[in-house]
Amino acid sequence: MPKITVIQKDGTPKSIEAQEGWSLMEITRDADVPEIEGVCGGSMACATCHMIVHPHWADKVEALDNEKTAEENDMLDLAHDVCETSRLGCQIRMSKELDGLV
Ligand code: FES
Repeated sequence: MPKITVIQKDGTPKSIEAQEGWSLMEITRDADVPEIEGVCGGSMACATCHMIVHPHWADKVEALDNEKTAEENDMLDLAHDVCETSRLGCQIRMSKELDGLV
């Protein structure tokens, strides 16, 4: 199974087995990453799944049918500490090509 690494707010890395086809919000929420709540269940209505994709991975994520939409950008406006590679985890679908994602 592919793995992702989450760098938590305190700087602690956490390696997580990532089920293909699930969203990064579902994967990180179910792995008890405290910063990821996913309150709206993935309907792009809460921004509590805000995460920052490592710049090394940002283009690859988008190229794998995970393009950032205008609606996602609007929702990210409500999140804190947004940066260029900020994404809503519910809008990124895990695939084997993302094995190693940070
Ligand atoms: Fe609510 Fe992603 S889970 S916007």
